[in-house]
This record gives sequence, C-alpha cells and structure tokens, in this order.
Amino acid sequence: TMTRQEWAEEVRRLARERDAVILAHNYQRPEIQDIADHTGDSLALSRLAASVEASTIVFCGVHFMAETAKLLSPEKTVLLPEPEAGCSLADTITAEDVRAWRAEHPDAVVVAYVNTTAAVKAETDICCTSSNAADVIRSIPEDREILFLPDQFLGAHVKRVTGRDNIHVWMGECHVHAGIDGHTLRERVEAEPDAELYVHPECGCATSALYLAASGAVPQERVKVLSTGGMLSAAEKTDARKVLIATETGMLHQLRAANPTTVFEPVNSRAECHYMKMITAEKLLSSLRDGTTEITVPEDVAARARTSVERMIAIGS
Ligand code: 13P
Ligand code: SF4
Repeated sequence: TMTRQEWAEEVRRLARERDAVILAHNYQRPEIQDIADHTGDSLALSRLAASVEASTIVFCGVHFMAETAKLLSPEKTVLLPEPEAGCSLADTITAEDVRAWRAEHPDAVVVAYVNTTAAVKAETDICCTSSNAADVIRSIPEDREILFLPDQFLGAHVKRVTGRDNIHVWMGECHVHAGIDGHTLRERVEAEPDAELYVHPECGCATSALYLAASGAVPQERVKVLSTGGMLSAAEKTDARKVLIATETGMLHQLRAANPTTVFEPVNSRAECHYMKMITAEKLLSSLRDGTTEITVPEDVAARARTSVERMIAIGS
C-alpha cells in the first residue's frame, strides 16, 4: 500500500503524463481538494473547464458537472473517476418533464439550475448556478413568465431577492440540503446566539434563516445566503469568532484553511453528499491511470444544452 505522499506524487506524475488538469468541487474529500489544480464552486469550475489549456479534465465532482465541462470543452477528454456519482436533485426532473411543463407555459423562459442532466439542459433557455441565479433572472425582461427548475428552495430564494412574482418553481430538492431544515437551524442558532450564519440557498432552512434575520432573532448583517464560492470569499474577510455553515460538510475544509482564526461549524453535521464522497483517493488514481470514465454527450443534445450553459457563462463575465 502507498503512503499519502507516494499517492500524491503518483497522481501528479500521471496527470502530467496525460496532460490532465484536476478540478474538484468544494464538497470533495479533503485529500481530493488538496491535490486538485483548482477547487471551487460549480460556476468557477465551469468557467475553468471552458478556459484551461490541458487536453484532459479529470472532474472530481458529480456526473452533471462532468457533463457541463464536456459541453463547454467538447474537444477535451473529460473523465469522472466514478461514473455512479450522481445527484438526487438532478434526478428530480427529466427532459420529458421539461417539455410537458413548457407546453403548459409556451411563452415562458425556462431557467435551469446547472444541477441537471445535459438532456434536461437541452430543453431549457438559460442555466444558472447558486452564485449567479439572481443575475440570470434579472437578465430576463420583467414581463416574461419564467419557469425555474429543479430546486424549490433556490427557486423561492431567487423569487424573494428579485421580487418577481411571475416565476413558477419546480418542486425538486437535494436530499442533503433539504435535510438542513428550519428546525435544525433554529436549535443551532439558539445554542450559538453570537455566531454568523452562512446558508446555501438549496437548504430547506434558507427561508427560516432570512426570517430569523427579519424578525431580529439574529442581526441582519450576520446572516448570509451564499453559494459555496461565496461562502469562501466571506470566510476570508470575516472577523467573527464563529460561523455556522448550512451546506454539505465538505465545504468546511476550504473554509477552515482560508481562515484559521474563525471557528467554522456545520449546522447539520450529518449533511454529507455520498455522491460527492464516491470520488476517493483510489478512484482518482485509477481514473488517471486507466482513463476512466470518459463522459460524453450525444451531439444533438450537446448543441442545445451548450447554448443554455453558454448564455449563463456570458452573464457577468
Ligand atoms: P455551488 O458550488 O454552486 O454552490 O453548488 C452546490 C451544489 O450543491 C453542487 O452540488
Ligand atoms: Fe446533488 Fe445535493 Fe449532492 Fe449537490 S449535494 S451533488 S445537489 S445531491
């Protein structure tokens, strides 16, 4: 068996040999985040996938992220170290569902969170992530009806921050973030009344967090609804003694590294995405060694899905 050091050297050697760049999402295991060339949120990783020089991208994340990378860099080889790494949120809607929903609202603009399959993206007009969802909505004329899919909590959040009342929201959810609910949040906030609060908009408690702030239970300036990348930027700047984090627990690794003087604690310590954790040290090594598993998107689907992703990338860049 290999030591951690030998593993790291072998991963770097194989990546050089394959001309591969390793991208890792903020929810990946700590050893994967540490060995990656870039670690980030889904928007940052999409931008990198579109711009990196390497001929191969090893995507340490879940299937829809590797597909998005392939859409943006069709000439590159995209590897996902574990092809079964899926997403319970992406599983809540099919391409057929989108077609049927659109048929009920033929004039609507269809906005898809990137946590969807390429086949679903192909049926939509523009994508968004948790860091640019409000900007994407604001890019759409105010009088247009909008169908937002698939996350109900992010949908409710963008409705609130944009003040638009003609957004219809698909009732999907991520099992990990839905489990960080209002009840759990209130308990933690009562036990830690002086802490700051960073909440991912996919959380079941995203509305409760803003309610706690609006009701004065927690001072407004201490409550922030942020993407994982937004959490990292806020963590670098804060001088709070403690911050409670409502998202998948893999995020804590980056936050603690970015700011060693603030204590970061999960709101729900069981909020772990088993799909994200399928990418193990061994899987990354075998992916680089054997070129597994290559992710492809059929060209007819890819052409339509790419338009939707590229419209998003064009906003704010
Ligand atoms: P972000 O990295 O865009 O905040 O996404 C969170 C997520 O759930 C990805 O699976
Ligand atoms: Fe999907 Fe939720 Fe896992 Fe993100 S945390 S990959 S949304 S199941």
